[in-house]
Amino acid sequence: MSLAIETACIHGNGQLEKDHPYRSIITPIFQVATFAHPGIGRSSGYDYSRVGNPTRHDLEQVVNELEHGRGCLATTNGMSAIWLALELLPPGAHIVASEDLYGGSVRLFDLLKENRDIDVSYVNTSHEDEVRTAIGEDTKALYIETPSNPMMEVTDLAEMRKIADEHGLLLIVDNTFLSPYFQNPIDLGADVVVHSGTKYLEGHNDTLAGFVITRNEELYERLEFIYKTVGPCLAPFDCFLVLRGIKTLAIRLEKQQENAQKIARWLKSHPSVTDVYYVGLEDHPGYEVSKKQARGFGAMISFRTVDRQTAEKVLEKIKIITFAESLGGVESLMTYPMIQTHGYIDTKVREKLGITDTLLRLSVGIENAEDLIADLEQAFIG
Ligand SMILES: Cc1ncc(COP(=O)(O)O)c(C=O)c1O
Repeated sequence: MSLAIETACIHGNGQLEKDHPYRSIITPIFQVATFAHPGIGRSSGYDYSRVGNPTRHDLEQVVNELEHGRGCLATTNGMSAIWLALELLPPGAHIVASEDLYGGSVRLFDLLKENRDIDVSYVNTSHEDEVRTAIGEDTKALYIETPSNPMMEVTDLAEMRKIADEHGLLLIVDNTFLSPYFQNPIDLGADVVVHSGTKYLEGHNDTLAGFVITRNEELYERLEFIYKTVGPCLAPFDCFLVLRGIKTLAIRLEKQQENAQKIARWLKSHPSVTDVYYVGLEDHPGYEVSKKQARGFGAMISFRTVDRQTAEKVLEKIKIITFAESLGGVESLMTYPMIQTHGYIDTKVREKLGITDTLLRLSVGIENAEDLIADLEQAFIG
């Protein structure tokens, strides 16, 4: 039976068809390293938790279903998920990536350059001609964040698929910012989707998690082999937390997006704000592409203040909104990308992208929108 997304968030683990011990209506936490063999050459279905664990299995099934995948692996955090996906590439491979990427992903690419001679060209992937120009003989993959972090650039994924097909490339998409509630990159042609499950999927700022989802079994099998060999497996209790978080993904994201729309419009009219980067504003350059490929605009806003003093004042004075480095949870968080999420990026590159001392990023939570606006208002006054 095909389920609507709100239903799949709750029952997507096949719960309806499944008998958990004592008919528990949620997936129990199988906090166990190993499983007894019923006999020689026989298995209960689980032998050792690095290879498979029932709590993790249910979580992987739910996320796989939400992302319309053919296989999913739950990892310790988003970075290990991205690392795992990039293990698909041979040493010496070249990647064309979105230039506006989470700073940790850039750090990983630098590490891969050192360890495996993997080269990355960073371009504005919302401009297809830049992507085409950057492709060379050794290019093996396109790596896309859309909307990007923190400048909210939107990349047309169907166009990326066309380019990937022309050159035989793997299309890898980080879908953290919109989550499968709003966007399914596999439906748009992605081969591999990665997530920081720490963000919207888990949604409560209380555990780290990551996911890799593939569009076919072959890719899944290659990744699963690496996964079980190296073991970046999400622990059973963390799987339980993410399973619980996902149950409310739909209502959280609807509320977060509604709040974000109101706050983005309010910020736009504020005299101390010069620019607002929110994909859901009609004048955002990625608005039309986003409408075509996603079911919503999400709840991430970046904005630019008139000067550095104002940005610092806002960070120091906010009371309900917390100055902290993450996103996607029920609590609204404000980040200073220049020194936090993108502190690793070379200053010149950062400045070129617009990640300067006046840029703030707001992850809108599920609090009352008027309270959040009042909090921002008093912070701007100082
Ligand atoms: C878009 C994006 N991808 C990946 C990551 C890494 O995820 P994690 O912190 O769970 O390792 C982050 C973290 O902020 C992120 O924002």
